[in-house]
Amino acid sequence: MAKKAKAGGPKPVEELSVKEAKSEHVRLELEIGSHDRRYYEHDAPVISDAEYDALRRRYEAIEKQFPDLRTLTSLSNKVGAAPSGKFKKVRHAVPMLSLGNAFTDEDVTDFVDRIRRFLRLSDKDELIITAEPKIDGLSCSLRYEKGKLVVAATRGDGAEGEDVTANIRTIKDIPQELKGKGAPDVFEARGEVYMTKDDFIALNKRQEKEGKPLYVNPRNTAAGSLRQIDPKMTATRPLKFFAYTWGEASELPADTQSESVAAMKRWGLPTNALMKKCKSVDELLKHYRKIEEARAELPYDIDGVVYKVDRLDWQGRLGFVSRSPRWAIAHKFAAEKATTIVKGIDIQVGRTGKLTPVAKLEPVTVGGVTVQNVTLHNEDEIARKDVRIGDTVTIQRAGDVIPQVLGVVMEKRPKSAKPYKFPEVCPVCGSHAVREEGEVDRRCTGGLVCAAQAVQTLIHFVSRNAFDIDGLGEKQIEFFFEKGWVRQPADIFTLEKRNGKIKLENEEGFGATSVRNLFISIEARRKIALNRVLFALGIRHIGETNATRLARHYGTMEALRGAAVAAGKGDEEAFSEMNNVNGIGEIVAEAVVEFFKEKKNMKALDALLAEIDIEPMEAVAKDSPVSGKSVVFTGSLEQMTRDEAKAMAERLGAKVAGSVSKKTDYLVAGPGAGSKLKEAQKHGVRVLSEDDWFTLIGKK
Ligand code: IVH
Repeated sequence: MAKKAKAGGPKPVEELSVKEAKSEHVRLELEIGSHDRRYYEHDAPVISDAEYDALRRRYEAIEKQFPDLRTLTSLSNKVGAAPSGKFKKVRHAVPMLSLGNAFTDEDVTDFVDRIRRFLRLSDKDELIITAEPKIDGLSCSLRYEKGKLVVAATRGDGAEGEDVTANIRTIKDIPQELKGKGAPDVFEARGEVYMTKDDFIALNKRQEKEGKPLYVNPRNTAAGSLRQIDPKMTATRPLKFFAYTWGEASELPADTQSESVAAMKRWGLPTNALMKKCKSVDELLKHYRKIEEARAELPYDIDGVVYKVDRLDWQGRLGFVSRSPRWAIAHKFAAEKATTIVKGIDIQVGRTGKLTPVAKLEPVTVGGVTVQNVTLHNEDEIARKDVRIGDTVTIQRAGDVIPQVLGVVMEKRPKSAKPYKFPEVCPVCGSHAVREEGEVDRRCTGGLVCAAQAVQTLIHFVSRNAFDIDGLGEKQIEFFFEKGWVRQPADIFTLEKRNGKIKLENEEGFGATSVRNLFISIEARRKIALNRVLFALGIRHIGETNATRLARHYGTMEALRGAAVAAGKGDEEAFSEMNNVNGIGEIVAEAVVEFFKEKKNMKALDALLAEIDIEPMEAVAKDSPVSGKSVVFTGSLEQMTRDEAKAMAERLGAKVAGSVSKKTDYLVAGPGAGSKLKEAQKHGVRVLSEDDWFTLIGKK
């Protein structure tokens, strides 16, 4: 993280005052704790390992410099959490690669044609390709030396994974020792760790019984289970394994893919029985359809069919393109569909007053998750699809995409079902809900009088990219609002002072510890960056990016407010300056001016400013090596997160784009870069590694 510090990051630990150290120690403790939960419990980390390690290092450095801070609650004293926080790293002797995708029958024909051309095969030459299910789990590499399991690692970024040997040893499916005599001295069996659908359901039943949160799907649960710090925990989770390929091998098991898999089976490794050798595209597609039909009945989740050239010498000749083999491809299944009944249509009122209709469904499993709510978007969408309460609807969910209603099954419509009439008043505050010309949305006109809008504004205020207050989420805000304890942002910061009267610890669900922790989290956020505050205010059109742009340009809240107020009073120069901030423009500038014109907003802002301490923002560099250049980031970056990369580039005056075009100056590509890399090569755009990037901007 030295790079981040140089690029305007935190103060060196040696320069911190006792007060600063104390507040940062608390902040880091909460931050690290929340990353630990995300990582270990939900398997949904939001930062890279490098960033996590940097947080940890800074935390430890602070404790070293200020030993008094090392109390009983200190993370360094926590039992159960590995001191380094995570697992040892394992470098894969042979990288673990990914597969290209095919979505249509034509893609499969193209794949086979490409192989035939590459190998210069005539139509008469036999080309055998295997077809097998693509298991929806997480890939692992199991290294056997002299037949004994020595190391097991996750895929990680493909080059380096995590050492999960102790956890893998708890999986009954996986032999500690290979059977028979035929196994090579060194053999890395690779395959997928997964959880069966039944085991997943049983686990969730147990969770429900114990009042614990439910897991989302078998894949995430398998991943989370494998990355438990305590192998005893993994042992309680029913994980399974299928071997389908190999990494380093001192000797090849056989001459073909299918025989090699058969060899792994003989050695005691579980393999999938649905693999078939096919001799033509037709046969591949036939097997694909057979597997697709069996999908719902299979005991485990799959998301496609993998085709592999059977002859290993041909695999060798075909080699790899970027990070996928030319000899294999994943034929993905179309989005999964299901039908269910609309039990009701709820109207949700958002922060800006927008009324969103949500269909309440009879719960149904689709694409690996249970769906019971699905957005119907707006009035016109309901009318277009003619969705009525009582209707049976077809819903679809693909990958991580949010579920959607495809249409109504008309034959099943009950006689009594009436066309849905969209409300013209806000269901929460009763104010008129109006639809302006040219708009698809109907909005409540109640403003902050509307409890729904006020609550949503507060929820936005504490959300992750705004004030990010741990322990203060949707539920707590709703509760505090209802009680009248928090009606505007500033109230959050005076809650502790008022707690003598409120006595939060006496409320259900709030023990003394959680109340203490909540106040600590709130305290830790009194000092906050300007861009976060701007985003938190919920000004129309001010998302994270615009908030950062304005914060960088004006540097302080006073400067921005001064400019907005002046512009609101007709100062054209002030308006045009804001309008000209890179990426802002007239609509956004007007929204900012409008916000600062509103007396209610100013009152709430003043109250908030009396409670918090805003850190000024570093201005955009005008003369950096990348100022004015257009940059695209792709692939999995290893030394910074995407957000950090973007922020860094913008701070240096570069424009960050989402796609590559002729106008792109640099493509910064991490491992796994795909189509963007190809585009860049097509347009002759300069491609940089992360290291090249740091060299270019002078941070190396
Ligand atoms: S073969 C060189 N076979 O899919 C690539 N992968 O999208 C070797 N996967 O990372 C992979 N089932 O985690 C292969 N039957 C199967 C698979 C499979 C699931 C996963 C694997 C891989 C990913 C690629």
